[in-house]
Amino acid sequence: MKNIYLIGFMGTGKSSVGKILAEDLGAQFVDTDKLVEEKTGKSISDIFEELSEEEFRRLETEVLRDITEQDGLVVSTGGGIVVTRGNLDMMKQTGIVVTLIADVHTILERVQADGTNRPLLEVDDPFEEIKKLLFDRASFYISAHHIVETSDITQREAADRIIELTKNG
Ligand code: S3P
Repeated sequence: MKNIYLIGFMGTGKSSVGKILAEDLGAQFVDTDKLVEEKTGKSISDIFEELSEEEFRRLETEVLRDITEQDGLVVSTGGGIVVTRGNLDMMKQTGIVVTLIADVHTILERVQADGTNRPLLEVDDPFEEIKKLLFDRASFYISAHHIVETSDITQREAADRIIELTKNG
């Protein structure tokens, strides 16, 4: 099986949907944020705080490069992985890339509820920040092989749609 890469903004469901998908396909699930944390022994927030976003992006690309040398994986990626030049092409060349999208209100609700620290949203007005980042990244997200809108469907339904969309390779 070719890798399936889930890309998209924070809070669109990449990790939770990715785990269901991997289980259904009997594939291994990996998460680039988790791999960066394992590699450094630091949390994402600590990497941003003690090192820098630039260093985080470098580490993220390093783990992605390792992933692209394997196959049979369902890969959940950090929302900003697409901004580093070359990363999206690397994913498109080695697998099927699916963008998960959601509306700004849904994203804000989910990121506030899921307990994950997201350094880029620790700002006075996270709603505006989400809109700004989404706008900056939109051209990358829409150039995936497939797009699934997750605002009004369950994680199970999102996984089913991805299976349907990717079943012919
Ligand atoms: C980021 C998204 C986060 C994590 C980091 C930066 C981003 O991952 O990689 O906080 O730039 O959008 P999730 O999309 O899994 O929350």
